Amino acid sequence: MDNDTLQHKMRELKTQFPALNQTVYGRPLVYLDNAATTQKPQRVIDSISEYYSKWNANIHRGAHYLANASTEKFEATRSALAEMLHANFREEIIFNQGSTDSVNMLSTILENEVEEGDEIWVTEMEHHSNFVPWQMLALKKKAHFRYIPMLPSGEWDLDYAKNEITDRAKIVAFNWVSNALGTVNPIEELIRLAKSAGAYVVVDGAQAVAHFDINVQTLNCDFFLFSAHKMYGPTGLGVLWGKKELLEKLPPYRYGGEMIKKVSVTGTTFNVLPFKYESGTPNIEAVIAFNESISFCKEVGRENMHAHEYFLLKTATERLKEIERMTVYADIPNKVGVLSFNVEDIHSADIGTLLDQQGIAVRTGHHCTQPLWEKLGTTGSVRASFACYNTVEDVELFIAALNKSVNMLR
Ligand code: ALA
Repeated sequence: MDNDTLQHKMRELKTQFPALNQTVYGRPLVYLDNAATTQKPQRVIDSISEYYSKWNANIHRGAHYLANASTEKFEATRSALAEMLHANFREEIIFNQGSTDSVNMLSTILENEVEEGDEIWVTEMEHHSNFVPWQMLALKKKAHFRYIPMLPSGEWDLDYAKNEITDRAKIVAFNWVSNALGTVNPIEELIRLAKSAGAYVVVDGAQAVAHFDINVQTLNCDFFLFSAHKMYGPTGLGVLWGKKELLEKLPPYRYGGEMIKKVSVTGTTFNVLPFKYESGTPNIEAVIAFNESISFCKEVGRENMHAHEYFLLKTATERLKEIERMTVYADIPNKVGVLSFNVEDIHSADIGTLLDQQGIAVRTGHHCTQPLWEKLGTTGSVRASFACYNTVEDVELFIAALNKSVNMLR
């Protein structure tokens, strides 16, 4: 598809997102905080409302019409996700509260696999949610917590990884796309490296799911996780895919209803997958509505989304670089639509506040990646992140507001 056709096609999407059609402080809202969470299309909002208007019942339990209807819809999302990820088995899809929940679960259920002196690896650019749980596990098991350094360009130092990751590595956990910089990491290479060392491989796909097609078979990782809300879906819902034989072998995480097979005063046996890892009443409406986000992404096409967002990124980056004393982080080709920057001697929070007053929503600060900023010699940045519904006009409004803010603060 040529760029004009693509821009035209994507522009039409905006009308499907009611939250984008509003003014804040009397200015049209320009929402550029999509790496934090994406807005939701009307079909997702309608699905949540329909659930409570028509189908509200607890799943997997009741022998009545509504319980069966909600169970069927809930399980339809699991099937859609199995298809989206190219999973071999639908029961490999586990629902939970989000990516943070998934990493906490994995760092708990993998505990017995780690022995004193083993190595647990992450990268220097991880979100704290894929960093701290592993650091704490290493501490608990007297294992070595190690990390792949980040180069000043915002890329992994893969040579270091090649030299240092050996069969002492027990777990290697890393993100596909950096939330702070938008760099797209060479995960295939690291997965090969970690697998040949015999480690468990955990891929945090939170910042990738809205931009790239995912095939867990060809990736050959052991676990892949993400959150629905970064993919035009509801908040409070996470998806964890794991290889069936591993999820069957590893212990349960949370105890309670649904995850048991038989409970008696003499002991308890646990349910089969996926229920073994889904204790308690889940976020039913979110799971059901998420099926609409899955369809939305499939219909628009992630390839189109990425191409469009990349065009916006390039346009904005060029305009940004015209501003004096500007630092654009990770200005490299292999990126999604995330633009992280600082203007010398101006605090990121001050720029964020002035942008906000002009209707431009961005994120400022460390973006939950403090080790990354320490490496880059600062404490954080202003981050503008694009989604499929953003337009070139959004970029123009953002740049104009940024210029005005910088001039006021200088
Ligand atoms: N992880 C989300 C972000 O990067 C919240 O903003």
